[in-house]
Amino acid sequence: MTASQHNDYSDYPATPVKVKTGLANVTLLSRRGRGDTKLEWVAHPRDRYFSDVTGDPIVTDKQTLTIRDNRSGEEYEVEITDGSIRAADLGKIGKSDDDPGLSVYDPGFTNTASTRSAVTYIDGEKGILEYRGYPIEQLAESSTYLEVAYLLIHGELPTKEQHDQWVHEITFHTFVHENLKSQLQGFRYDAHPMGMLLSSVGALSTFYPEANKIKDPQVRHDQIVRMIAKMPTLGAWAFRHAQGKPYVYPDNDLSYTENFLSMLFRMSEPKYDPDPRLAKALEVLFILHADHEQNASTNAVRSVGSSQVDPYSAVTAGIAALYGPLHGGANEAVLKMLKRIKTKDNVPAFIEGVKNGEERLMGFGHRVYKNYDPRATIIKKACDDVFEVTGVNPLLEVAQELEKIALEDEYFVKRKLYPNVDFYSGLIYEALQFPPEMFTVLFAIPRTSGWLAQWLELVDDPEQKIARPKQIYTGARQLDFVPSSERWK
Ligand code: CMC
Repeated sequence: MTASQHNDYSDYPATPVKVKTGLANVTLLSRRGRGDTKLEWVAHPRDRYFSDVTGDPIVTDKQTLTIRDNRSGEEYEVEITDGSIRAADLGKIGKSDDDPGLSVYDPGFTNTASTRSAVTYIDGEKGILEYRGYPIEQLAESSTYLEVAYLLIHGELPTKEQHDQWVHEITFHTFVHENLKSQLQGFRYDAHPMGMLLSSVGALSTFYPEANKIKDPQVRHDQIVRMIAKMPTLGAWAFRHAQGKPYVYPDNDLSYTENFLSMLFRMSEPKYDPDPRLAKALEVLFILHADHEQNASTNAVRSVGSSQVDPYSAVTAGIAALYGPLHGGANEAVLKMLKRIKTKDNVPAFIEGVKNGEERLMGFGHRVYKNYDPRATIIKKACDDVFEVTGVNPLLEVAQELEKIALEDEYFVKRKLYPNVDFYSGLIYEALQFPPEMFTVLFAIPRTSGWLAQWLELVDDPEQKIARPKQIYTGARQLDFVPSSERWK
């Protein structure tokens, strides 16, 4: 049968068959009746299959994709699962002894799913963020950072006993080995605290060599507790180092964020008494930063973790990725930008510069969110609570003006550029007396629970292999090497 025979319905089959046309191999669907009208399907010159009765594209219930390789005329059918096809299935296309088959070129993973994950859900178009199914707004409003960390790591909210045990364990692992303190003291007075943090977390693996037993659940648990517990200590000590102040040891009577504030700001008082509003604001900020599915730093943790290295080394990779100005370093860049703009009046000229491509509006835009980042909405609200204690940051006015102008400007509207989590967080951090260099540290501390939740998922996932992307080689081949003694004559 050929597609040109379509006027004769009688010999159309009940199940789909392939037919040969002058164009290519096409799938011909079985006939269906709609009232008195028989529907039939024919090949269309534009390579899509349309009904010649309704003109609609052919739709079937099959969750597959049919691909025709125009180089050979071969057709391939690949499964679609959860809106994705497997890159390995594409590898079968055109595969021969001389050809490794088709691959996907996707620098920056803009449209590649690297894993299946049940940790964090994001709908970037709608501006939705959920941890383990719970909306970020509810967690920020009513939970604590350690409860959220438990949720991320264990997949469900803790019972009272589980919570108390978890908090107890984290609280009693906040101290770090004295030799690590010596390592931190060895840094230059002006060392960037992120550099100090990433090297000290990397160094932790040498204090706990058993950490490389990543298949042992108890060993994993111990390292997870240690890392979540010690991050505030290391972050606070990096902060004190820059100020030339003595390091403050943890106070286990205080909550996670209160203790962090104590290690940051305590001087000669026998006991630090943190302002509960500031401790709460920090708690909210920590919850908002705890996880964000497959971002650059999480991808770094997973990529390095896929070699089955210990979790300290994997998390160190995450800290390094977070350090960059396009990722966690953006909040530092936002504050520097606001300081440079200085006053509300300078905003229009700055925006023009951004539109002319001279620079980026830091704290705006997101790979996933094409709407207001839900975390930015919560942070904006938290600003008010903090400024009530600290007084209003004068740069708030500049930030608000930037936001107002950008949200109305066609350049930003067309590209769906909205404020992200970093746009307002820097203002709070500055009001809390943190220098910009500390901002990314304040991101890394809470993100540790997310990195570890993702790492756990990775090491238990039988589908995961060592991360090893392909390349498209564009360089020279088979050159003859000329020794330097001859080249440099
Ligand atoms: N200011 C001006 N133009 C921008 C900005 C910005 N902040 N962000 C994106 N664009 C433009 C970009 O020039 C491009 O325009 P065109 O199509 O004309 O070339 C278009 O928007 C798409 O940008 P992109 O760079 O292809 O988008 P991306 O998904 O690769 O980058 C981003 C996402 C977050 C790196 C980027 O928006 C950016 O650099 N933002 C500023 C840095 C920032 O705030 N980063 C924090 C991200 S949220 C916290 C975190 O998860 O770490």
